Amino acid sequence: MKLVVAIIRPERLNAVLESLYNADVRGLTVSKVQGHGGEVEHVENYRGVTVKMDLQAKMRLEIGVSESFVQPTVDAIVHAARTGDVGDGKIFVLPVERVIRIRTGEEDTRAVTPEDRD
Ligand SMILES: Nc1ncnc2c1ncn2[C@@H]1O[C@H](COP(=O)(O)OP(=O)(O)OP(=O)(O)O)[C@@H](O)[C@H]1O
Ligand SMILES: [Mg+2]
Repeated sequence: MKLVVAIIRPERLNAVLESLYNADVRGLTVSKVQGHGGEVEHVENYRGVTVKMDLQAKMRLEIGVSESFVQPTVDAIVHAARTGDVGDGKIFVLPVERVIRIRTGEEDTRAVTPEDRD
């Protein structure tokens, strides 16, 4: 199992959610976050030039998936989130040790949505 964490532009959220739905990915968490993606603004001040690290509004998606859904999930996000301009965001794929569905007590690949295709 993996946790796919994606930081995307807020205006791409609806397209990404639709793309994930079409890829049969169910179950995710969305948060509003602020991030810095490397772009810096040079600001003049009395001691000389300093650098301002701007924070941009972004959306963070967390999606727990079984192995066979990792690549389809990544593909769906990239396809819908890319504009080609700097600041399109980033995807991190993290290993997941354990998942428990609280209602049923099911664990691991039985507990992520969807269940493993294998
Ligand atoms: N290394 C990182 N660690 C954590 N979050 C990051 C990292 N890089 C980018 N982010 C998050 O992703 C958002 C968008 O980043 P951004 O798309 O600018 O990445 P980038 O690597 O600079 O790519 P680009 O060249 O397209 O700008 C940031 O505002 C931040 O929230
Ligand atoms: Mg950037």
